[in-house]
Amino acid sequence: MGTDKTYTLAEWLPHTLSDSEVQRHLDDLGELLKQIVEGGASVNFILPFTHQEARQYWEDNVLPSVVNRKTRALFAWSEGRIVGTVLLMLAPQPNQRHRADIGKMLVLPAFQRRGIARALMTAIEDFAREEGRTLLTLDTNFDSHAEPLYRSVGFQVLGTIPRYSRNSLEDRLDAATFMYKELA
Ligand SMILES: CC(C)(COP(=O)(O)OP(=O)(O)OC[C@H]1O[C@@H](n2cnc3c(N)ncnc32)[C@H](O)[C@@H]1OP(=O)(O)O)[C@@H](O)C(=O)NCCC(=O)NCCS
Repeated sequence: MGTDKTYTLAEWLPHTLSDSEVQRHLDDLGELLKQIVEGGASVNFILPFTHQEARQYWEDNVLPSVVNRKTRALFAWSEGRIVGTVLLMLAPQPNQRHRADIGKMLVLPAFQRRGIARALMTAIEDFAREEGRTLLTLDTNFDSHAEPLYRSVGFQVLGTIPRYSRNSLEDRLDAATFMYKELA
């Protein structure tokens, strides 16, 4: 996995860890998601949003899926804590075993603009290839910081759906851009 002076990337393999380690990771993930939602990003949640609700999302939805190998989770670590994440959610449909969704691309505000998200995307594409998934799909808030990120790693814009999701901070509906990438 790639490393530099400030962060390391590693896959989350909770079934190989102690319960106390997993609990600590869930705390970090709860904090990460809460900070991102409070910052106004469109990642399925709206305010008010507590640390406990954020932690519960990872524990109830992501952890079982990772343990069952339906999702692969990649984290960026710095000084022993999780500062970034991205998920590869393997399409379960029998006729889409070549496809996976990219989700929960999140980097702690204090660690943004250091190339962490781009490094996470490069590494998660390797996971996709390992899984035989050659088509990646995702949606992101129209005009968000994530759209140039995805474009910069080769995602194509399929189109935009207006009024797709509620803004996390304000009472309005925002558009979403749908994107895809075919892996060579
Ligand atoms: C989007 C996000 C993951 C980017 O993380 P990051 O580690 O800061 O991104 P990187 O440093 O790897 O930047 C990669 C590219 O993304 C784009 N980008 C990232 N942050 C940006 C910003 N604030 N403004 C404009 N473009 C930005 C740029 O194209 C950048 O390339 P460049 O630095 O060569 O110009 C981060 O801003 C974040 O967590 N946002 C909130 C959550 C979110 O919206 N996630 C996406 C859900 S689909």
